[in-house]
Amino acid sequence: MLFDHELAWKDPDVYNEVYRTSIEFSEQFWEYHRARLFAESNYNASFNCVDRHAAKNPNKTALVWYGDEFCERREITYIKLLIMVQKIASELLRRGVRKGDSVTICMPMIPESIAAMLACCRIGAIHNVVFSGFSPVALRERVFRSASRMVLTVTSSSRGGKLIPSLKNVLTAIDGLNAEILLLDHVDDFSIDERAVHPTPMDYADSMFTLYTSGSTKEPKRIFHTCGGYQLYSAMTFQYIFDAKESDTYFCTSDIGWITGHSYITYAPLFFGLKSVIFSGTPMYPTGGRYWDIIEREKVSIFYSAPSAIRCLASLGNDMLSNYDFSSLRALGCVGEPMNESAWEWFFNNIGQKRCPIMDTWWQTETGGIMLAPLHNISLQKPCFAAKPFFGVVPDIQNDELVILKKNWPGLSSNFARDDGQIYHTGDKAMRDEDGDFRVLGRIDDVVNISGHRLGTSEVESIVNSLGEIEESAAIGIPHRIKGQALCIFATTTSTLEPEQKESVAREISSRIRQDIGAIAKPDKIVFIPELPKTRSGKIKRNILKIIGEKKKIDYESGDLSSLVNLNCIKDIETAMQRAIKPMV
Ligand code: WTA
Repeated sequence: MLFDHELAWKDPDVYNEVYRTSIEFSEQFWEYHRARLFAESNYNASFNCVDRHAAKNPNKTALVWYGDEFCERREITYIKLLIMVQKIASELLRRGVRKGDSVTICMPMIPESIAAMLACCRIGAIHNVVFSGFSPVALRERVFRSASRMVLTVTSSSRGGKLIPSLKNVLTAIDGLNAEILLLDHVDDFSIDERAVHPTPMDYADSMFTLYTSGSTKEPKRIFHTCGGYQLYSAMTFQYIFDAKESDTYFCTSDIGWITGHSYITYAPLFFGLKSVIFSGTPMYPTGGRYWDIIEREKVSIFYSAPSAIRCLASLGNDMLSNYDFSSLRALGCVGEPMNESAWEWFFNNIGQKRCPIMDTWWQTETGGIMLAPLHNISLQKPCFAAKPFFGVVPDIQNDELVILKKNWPGLSSNFARDDGQIYHTGDKAMRDEDGDFRVLGRIDDVVNISGHRLGTSEVESIVNSLGEIEESAAIGIPHRIKGQALCIFATTTSTLEPEQKESVAREISSRIRQDIGAIAKPDKIVFIPELPKTRSGKIKRNILKIIGEKKKIDYESGDLSSLVNLNCIKDIETAMQRAIKPMV
């Protein structure tokens, strides 16, 4: 298969030709890339991401870490990373962890966390990373359901000036479970066991890791990814879409608790031996210049972030930007939620200085890697469009929903049967313009996206409904200027409540959600109503709640209302919306 790799994601003619080949000769296309990227047919991610580079370029920087304060910086070379990985893998082996075992990782964004993921891979253990901002209850559920007998963490860390007592949280989470803790505060003190010197051989189809993600079910789903398909797809997308090269300095602001942190902080950048910057703080602490300072100091060439972070930083204005040098940048990226025009323009003009393309990448935990992205060519940029399908991906729009017509790209989670005939449903709403470019507009199902974090409304409702005072509830997403969406909960109560009682129940709802999921799920509005709008068959009419939640006018002429049994409740809900409670906890 001969084509110009350099131009495949830049020049539209080359792109079209390669894309056509990838569809017509799908098997040969993937096989060609598999053979090219895995010359040694070794599917152990630790080998691909660490050993190979430690042998060739031992003193090259693999990771640069920045902490909460400007002065906190560490640099880890590939050889140092290899030793860290071998040490953690040794300790796992000494504690009895074997190939195929599940290991939960709940850690801040520090080099040890990435080493921990790679250490699991090294011995064939299946890591299950849990976002460190989740509550002990949510962590417990994920440790238990993944049958992890080992949880990796650190004593504490600080994020945005706040102390996160990781060990304390993990101890609470695993109380009574058959699981033990391995602390990674002092990895240097571990010794290397000879069994960890070389990576365990892994097959293409062996499981590599799992990750829980929210859907429309009450409980988050456990998504599996396999060694070969996942690595092949995450590496290829990274190379083509970002035009990434070994000489790049790359900075992705996501967290290893999410799929973006797996594919595009850990596995793809290290696969190619890049220098990758990681940051365990927040963009606003101690000032809103953290990202820009890191970009200048490290001479970052590719910067990959999220729309809510960009909106938040844009809201600070442009005054401080003149203090920073952005000239090292050559490509920008965003992921996790829909972009909006003004944030896109701001990012393009001020950070990318009108010379860097913005790769608005659309994908999901389930897809393993990027599915849609604009070509890496500034003259073709359209604000907020994820534009083109990656090679081999066949997107379509059916009833407003973005669907993928074949389940045959290698990154697809092994939860889904990989047969060609069936359609993969994304749950996202999208449109396609006259050039055939895609724009993703948000979810069509019962998933809310708060600052890029997926949250199932039924997950929230089951928590709210478990409170004694609550009869029934419906959670919906409402637009939010920075977060994209915020959570609004409508609830009916078992008895009539006085205003003070409402305040106190609202506080209880909010603190229970925080306790069972985490701070990211904190509702913005709680509305007590006498009745939920329902159809004859008892289904809650969420679209009506959405209209009221967005403070839009209800169209009484629309046929939609005819299915309602309790039309009269609308006025009451509109009135109650005026008195929505914003919980402080
Ligand atoms: C949303 C994150 C618009 C979408 C990689 C998807 C996006 C969900 C974009 C997956 C984008 C992700 N534009 N929406 N560029 N990227 N999304 O599993 O709703 O955490 O279904 O994976 O995020 O979230 P997940």
